[in-house]
Amino acid sequence: MAWGRMPPDLRNASVPALALLPLRFFFGVTFIYAGIDKLLDPAFFDPESATSIQSQFQVFERASPLTPLVHAAEPYAVLLGGLIALSEIAVGIGAVTGLAYRVAAIGGTAISFLFFLTASWTTHPYYFGNDLPYAFGWLTLALAGHGDLFVLLLPGTPRHGAHEATDRTRRGLIQVGVLALATLLLGGAAALLRSVRNEPPSTDIGSSPTPGPTISGSPDQSSSPTSTATVVPSTPNGLVVANVSDVQGAGARRFTVPVAAPAPLPAGDPAIVVELPDGTFAAFDALCTHEGCRVSYNFRAKILVCPCHGAEFDPTNHARVLGGPAPEPLLELPLVVDRRTGAIALAVE
Ligand code: FES
Repeated sequence: MAWGRMPPDLRNASVPALALLPLRFFFGVTFIYAGIDKLLDPAFFDPESATSIQSQFQVFERASPLTPLVHAAEPYAVLLGGLIALSEIAVGIGAVTGLAYRVAAIGGTAISFLFFLTASWTTHPYYFGNDLPYAFGWLTLALAGHGDLFVLLLPGTPRHGAHEATDRTRRGLIQVGVLALATLLLGGAAALLRSVRNEPPSTDIGSSPTPGPTISGSPDQSSSPTSTATVVPSTPNGLVVANVSDVQGAGARRFTVPVAAPAPLPAGDPAIVVELPDGTFAAFDALCTHEGCRVSYNFRAKILVCPCHGAEFDPTNHARVLGGPAPEPLLELPLVVDRRTGAIALAVE
């Protein structure tokens, strides 16, 4: 066998399309579901929500190898979120119906690799993430084709004939057109349904995966006892981020790390200050060390929990990991508490 040449056995090998049907339909249905789910989800486009596309962009910007691209795309997060949802629907329909099949499968490969480089990038070891298997699964489907199994035949589509190449081009264009139309109909119906439901946007500010803007004012009205701290001016002791009485009432209070905070504090990150059982206070970066979702405080269990994959952290023990996939504790922020004034401040060296 000479290098650069495939052995005859490999060259003539074929993958039965039948054997790929489970993969094809599972991926297809899952991608349709994922796309519709995004468009139906009132939180997806709500910048304050746990799962909004804007919030996810902010997390990706911190951790993805595509940081410059993510940064450039961030102002268009809502538009891109919508396009991603529609692309997932299109890819899923293509896989299920066989329309523009290879284009759809290549699209699925690209989307999954994009998710791997953003959403799954911080998952270690990599095999805990699911986007890479999706990417290679889609690649397999793109290489294998549908084998003419379960392919939707469109009426009026030109048949094989003397002008085979022209016919194939026409068939391809028609299929892409039908696929785009079906995607817009399905995606439009999902968006319409969401607006008809008129659900209020998510107020689960205790579990957002990303930093939100610096917030001043009203306490958290969500079911979580955690509330949002007012960022107040600095004092000689540090940067005031909360008040003792506010934290004591709620058990914990959220705040945004001030931009003026010294390294290694990640300025702009969401953070949380917790009252410990002995009456002292501890503050932590609120971004989960697994994939960056925003942790919230469980008042009953007195622990910090991540809504995404269930990581739990012990605030009484420097946010030690109690369970779940988080690889390390939350970053602890040094505090200075002035009992006289009630100010809780981030220590400034
Ligand atoms: Fe996965 Fe927190 S992001 S457990």
